[in-house]
Amino acid sequence: MGSTGSVGRQALEVVQRHSERLRVFALAAKSSADLLARQARRFRPRFVALLDETLVPDLRQLLAGCDVEVLAGMEGVCQVARDPEADIVLGAASGAAGLRPVLSALKAGKQLALANKETLVAAGPLAMDTAAAHGATILPVDSEHSAIFQCLEPSVPIERLLLTASGGPFLRRDPGTFAAITPAEALKHPNWSMGPKITIDSATMMNKGLEMIEARWLFDVEPRQVGVVIHPQSIVHSMVVFQDGSAKAQLSMPDMRIPIQYAFSYPARWDGPDGRVDWSIGQTMEFLPPDPARFPCLGLARDALHQGGAAPAVLNAANEEAVALFLRGAIPFTGIAQAVYRALESLGHHQAYALDEIVAVDAAARRYVRTRA
Ligand SMILES: NC(=O)c1ccc[n+]([C@@H]2O[C@H](COP(=O)([O-])OP(=O)(O)OC[C@H]3O[C@@H](n4cnc5c(N)ncnc54)[C@H](OP(=O)(O)O)[C@@H]3O)[C@@H](O)[C@H]2O)c1
Repeated sequence: MGSTGSVGRQALEVVQRHSERLRVFALAAKSSADLLARQARRFRPRFVALLDETLVPDLRQLLAGCDVEVLAGMEGVCQVARDPEADIVLGAASGAAGLRPVLSALKAGKQLALANKETLVAAGPLAMDTAAAHGATILPVDSEHSAIFQCLEPSVPIERLLLTASGGPFLRRDPGTFAAITPAEALKHPNWSMGPKITIDSATMMNKGLEMIEARWLFDVEPRQVGVVIHPQSIVHSMVVFQDGSAKAQLSMPDMRIPIQYAFSYPARWDGPDGRVDWSIGQTMEFLPPDPARFPCLGLARDALHQGGAAPAVLNAANEEAVALFLRGAIPFTGIAQAVYRALESLGHHQAYALDEIVAVDAAARRYVRTRA
């Protein structure tokens, strides 16, 4: 799910590298019909699903003569997510729009390789309960959560999880100039090449806030047990601190194909992409505490994490909407945190557990941000 995006395209590189072990059963995207058709011609899945139904006739035309069935709309995406023939479902759509297909895969008891963190932020308790009720497993694809997953020891209690953050492009920029940051500047991430929404989230550090909430649910820890440390080199991908004071970390080049592949190969490890950390040259690794004044989104996410209920879903939806407005030039960079703060103040106190409640809260938060921009 999300095969035409940054994670989806890298997942297909992993499939290509390990074609003797992996086969694509279905591909799904939102509206990139051309790329989806090219991917389908290359990987020959049984199904492709396109969320935007108006583009489905174009997709059918692009795939004329190909033995690939085209499915349409949200139901089409959910259908491929729960198909009994798929062993692993990669959840790599962006945003809370990925929630229904993710729940569909969990209800079908799948092994879900989850990149789409927004689903766990908006609906953590529902997603984890659904996974438990249907025997589904969630394997993290987010590099930080994959790192933690790789460091855990069976049945050994965790004292603390430490998520590492690069700090993004504005780690050392004068905060007095943040209102003038342009979308082009915010889209230049120093270490990772990612889709636009998560790249802006990295610049505001909302990404790390979303990841704190994701970690709380994935690893069943208390909010106070999840911390963040800035590590500009992006070599240490996160750490687990145990009760005896030992910390374990996972280190590798910042390359998403590594955690994507591990979610497919687990518990085995396969040949990875070429880059390696070069220990024959001097390596400097810094670790710094995040500055709350520079990164207010991190504090907002922490508040939502502690508040629970609808607050994380409001945080996520308000942020998605504010990021879209910023990318369109409708609000300044600093307007993202302001919009999220106001939406949380106004709507964060609601309760939301069931899918229809989350969908309603998500829609209300988006409306709130759009109408006040
Ligand atoms: N990129 C990274 O390195 C990275 C790292 C860690 C975690 N993540 C997480 O992974 C997810 C994807 O990120 P990305 O950077 O790959 O995003 P992206 O490049 O913007 O791609 C998003 C993908 O999702 C598709 N899509 C959007 N809504 C959909 C829906 N409702 N149903 C099916 N497909 C849908 C898009 O299709 P169209 O192309 O047709 O629009 C596209 O294929 C996000 O949750 C992000 O936080 C990303």
